[in-house]
Amino acid sequence: MLVKINGSAVYGVEALPITIEVNWISSSGKDPMIVGLPDNAVKESLQRIESTFKTNGYDMPRTKVVVNLAPADIKKSGTAFDLPIALGILGASEQFENAEILSQYVVMGELSLDGEVRPIKGSLPIAIQARKLGFKGLIVPALNAREAGMVNNLNVYGVNHIKEVIEFFENGETGLEPTVVNTREEFFHSQYNFEIDFADVKGQENIKRALEIAAAGGHNAILIGPPGAGKTMLAKRLPTILPPLTLQEALETTKIHSVAGKLPENATLISRRPFRSPHHTISDVALVGGGGIPQPGEISLAHNGVLFLDELPEFKRTVLEVMRQPMEERRVTISRAKVAIDFPASFMLIASMNPCPCGFHNHPDRECTCPPGTVQKYLNKISGPLLDRIDLHVEVTPVPFSQLS
Ligand SMILES: Nc1ncnc2c1ncn2[C@@H]1O[C@H](COP(=O)(O)OP(=O)(O)O)[C@@H](O)[C@H]1O
Ligand SMILES: [Mg+2]
Repeated sequence: MLVKINGSAVYGVEALPITIEVNWISSSGKDPMIVGLPDNAVKESLQRIESTFKTNGYDMPRTKVVVNLAPADIKKSGTAFDLPIALGILGASEQFENAEILSQYVVMGELSLDGEVRPIKGSLPIAIQARKLGFKGLIVPALNAREAGMVNNLNVYGVNHIKEVIEFFENGETGLEPTVVNTREEFFHSQYNFEIDFADVKGQENIKRALEIAAAGGHNAILIGPPGAGKTMLAKRLPTILPPLTLQEALETTKIHSVAGKLPENATLISRRPFRSPHHTISDVALVGGGGIPQPGEISLAHNGVLFLDELPEFKRTVLEVMRQPMEERRVTISRAKVAIDFPASFMLIASMNPCPCGFHNHPDRECTCPPGTVQKYLNKISGPLLDRIDLHVEVTPVPFSQLS
């Protein structure tokens, strides 16, 4: 029999509807096959499904069964199609009653070898898409249920095991409780919960003032000063004085984190501005985004928040240069042969650096030991066009010990 079930493929920060069609074709044949441009992770799903069937008392049909992921000309990747393909194969081989009802649901999830349902990436955009198309419900891994449950007017069911899904459909869609999240209340509740505070910084009044100006106007800033002056400490506290996220901004930022699989377990809406602080060994792709099926990079994860580049001259020059255009356009477009994907990247850049390799150039009480010329050479590591995009250059001098204690 022919069974249709709905899934979603995430491109950029949007989800595209994918129909998973499974048909039993003839009794001659060997193993089911998947068509519709699946990548290796999707093809491997048959191995996980076979093991799931074996441990749960079902049979992998040894007849000709075709799984088609439509539209067939878009590349499908990842492991999240395991669950819908498994249900489709059970339906097509008539080991599952009521398989027609599957076409009214969107189902996504990765399977483990014993049928447990593992978390997936991008369940928020998938839920948004499912509501838009008016599906009866969405079934996702339990760990992603709260993330998807933020979308109202859609029944979201979180599941831990494939058995729960099968029983839900066989018992006339009963036995699972929809996940309801009061997004607004949780959002406004945790908006100001910071572990750190600007008041921890003693003295440094002029630098605090500079950062207040940066925060008010969304300006980029660079902190230049010797080690131990408190540059990192000051930068980390910047998100605490930024204006609170609006719901709209929070949704955009959460979508990006959802697609990148960077939301913590059981998370809902991100309620505070992100603070991203990548290490200076980061690659171009990790910073701006990319990959075969493009994934967001650090600049997009910092969307609506702060990107902090500590020790700026240590970053590879090429890495800093690729950031220049997105800084202007506040978004990054990643083009591949068939698709061009846009990720929002509206962030505030805060950088820090030592004034010279030894770090003590211009220090009030210590001598700089760098040979002549090295100070200029050190500063030259950062290109003019990048420095030009940083509005505030702030010199940080350490607060004397007597004032700290
Ligand atoms: N103004 C200050 N008020 C309170 N603590 C400070 C201050 N300046 C420096 N410190 C302390 O010194 C530590 C080192 O500062 P850090 O931010 O790492 O310096 P930098 O990044 O400039 O090398 C901080 O973690 C903090 O404990
Ligand atoms: Mg530091």
